[in-house]
Amino acid sequence: MRETLSIRTGSRAGGAAVCLASLILLSFAGVAVAQEGFGDPVLGQAIFQSQGCVRCHAVRGAGGRIGPDLGRKGVRGSFYDIAADMWNHLPAMGEKMREFHLTRPRFEEEGDLANLAAFLYFLKYFDEPGDPQTGKTLFTEKHCVRCHAVGAQGGDTGPRLDGLPRSVSPLRIAQDLWNHGSAMVTAMQMQDLDVPTFEGNEIIDLLAYLRSQGQRRAAREFQSAGDPANGRKFFDSKGCSRCHAIFGSGSRVGPDLGAAELRGSVTQIAGRMWNHWPQMNQAMRELGMQRPQFSSDELADIFAYIFIARYEGTGVDVSRGETIYRVKGCATCHGEGAQGDIGPALNAASEEATKENITERMWNHGPDMWAKMMEQQIPWPRFEAEELADLLAYLKSIQSTSSNSP
Ligand code: HEC
Ligand code: HEC
Ligand code: HEC
Ligand code: HEC
Repeated sequence: MRETLSIRTGSRAGGAAVCLASLILLSFAGVAVAQEGFGDPVLGQAIFQSQGCVRCHAVRGAGGRIGPDLGRKGVRGSFYDIAADMWNHLPAMGEKMREFHLTRPRFEEEGDLANLAAFLYFLKYFDEPGDPQTGKTLFTEKHCVRCHAVGAQGGDTGPRLDGLPRSVSPLRIAQDLWNHGSAMVTAMQMQDLDVPTFEGNEIIDLLAYLRSQGQRRAAREFQSAGDPANGRKFFDSKGCSRCHAIFGSGSRVGPDLGAAELRGSVTQIAGRMWNHWPQMNQAMRELGMQRPQFSSDELADIFAYIFIARYEGTGVDVSRGETIYRVKGCATCHGEGAQGDIGPALNAASEEATKENITERMWNHGPDMWAKMMEQQIPWPRFEAEELADLLAYLKSIQSTSSNSP
């Protein structure tokens, strides 16, 4: 069985390979596809290579250097953020393609862009490789060592932490930390220690250290990336929904987890949840709630759910989208009501009018559009993610309207 899927690039990158755990990707993809429009990240990875994105973009180090590394920066936010980034960079990409004599990426099959977006979106799901050396320092700085032994060093107030399987997923450790939080925080308070918080990559480094000290021989544990459908149920049954909304509707006791600035991988999100332990604990006491406990993959499932929900982004506004359609100059070529003029009608009935597929058609026609606009000295219409979201909602609405009429 194949364990890793690599992106291999041409000579420019010296054949370096980046390994993404395809088992994780695949297991997640099977579930995620059930969501309307959501693509298959594994197929998306293949498109990233076959369409030559990889010749200009690296993913965490492996790949071209002409554009930014999309594993490290660049891909953020919802589908609309990714799509807006891609659209806005069409002219810059065009210049570079001419300079380096590259062929332009074009999506041949409906669904290609959806798959690619799913791949780019999933890049954030996974952690950057942690640094066990830094993690070791943090283990002392955050006072873990006062209560926990690793190897010959450390206290015995808490259990030893060097007995974990090496392959244990970071989220599992984060889950243990959460489950034992109450007893641990009490122990900390007795020793006059502050409850530690984690910034940036700290939790990833710290957990990388614990894993590196783990049991080499322990059985390989299957790392599931979590099941969003289960996660949705746990979000209710574990009481998260009593305090958190995801995009708008729901409780306001805690921050909206759709809109909150939750940058980073799922492990980092788990770290942020831990950082809020005292406040959450307080809020739970006020509501007379039991602190939720998690077993097996439950926490991973919840984070998978939160993560997928964020792909959809905030609500959209069709009438604002109609305005944007005019302001960005689409109406000049496609007609006031999108019935077609210089460019084809955009209101033809379509079975597959997902936001991903409309974006795909826009992308494919981008280079011609750019050329025409250069001729007429019209500046390239750039989009904020929210603007693109509204525009796509508008285009989607006129297509489904026309498909309803006889
Ligand atoms: C010929 C080189 C080239 C190719 C091919 C290329 N890009 Fe780019 N890309 C760039 C450059 C250069 C930038 C930065 C320019 C800019 O900021 O507008 C960029 C920026 C981006 C960004 C925005 C990153 C950010 O931080 O703002 C995304 C997303 C992106 N590219 C995705 C893709 C995808 C997906 C493909 C394949 C379909 C692709 N690119 C193909 C050169 C390329
Ligand atoms: C003041 C003492 C103290 C400090 C400091 C402390 N812990 Fe703990 N920790 C405990 C105790 C006590 C338990 C067991 C709680 C229980 O039995 O529920 C525990 C449990 C754990 C567990 C669960 C272990 C298992 O077998 O399931 C993890 C993981 C953990 N701690 C990690 C950490 C990390 C990482 C740090 C540093 C950021 C840290 N702890 C700091 C006292 C401490
Ligand atoms: C009793 C109310 C309550 C419950 C139940 C609750 N939370 Fe929270 N949560 C909060 C509050 C309040 C904050 C913000 C604390 C602060 O401002 O420091 C928070 C913060 C968070 C954060 C950090 C958000 C950020 O912006 O960094 C995450 C992630 C989170 N909660 C996830 C969860 C999950 C997952 C569950 C269910 C297992 C859950 N919470 C259950 C009240 C709750
Ligand atoms: C300068 C004229 C011009 C402008 C401005 C323009 N388009 Fe186009 N568009 C065309 C032409 C011509 C085609 C068909 C030829 C092609 O595919 O390149 C087309 C094709 C398309 C398609 C593909 C239609 C299909 O059935 O495959 C979409 C979607 C689209 N445009 C959307 C837009 C949007 C959204 C805007 C505004 C941001 C816009 N266009 C602005 C001229 C234009």
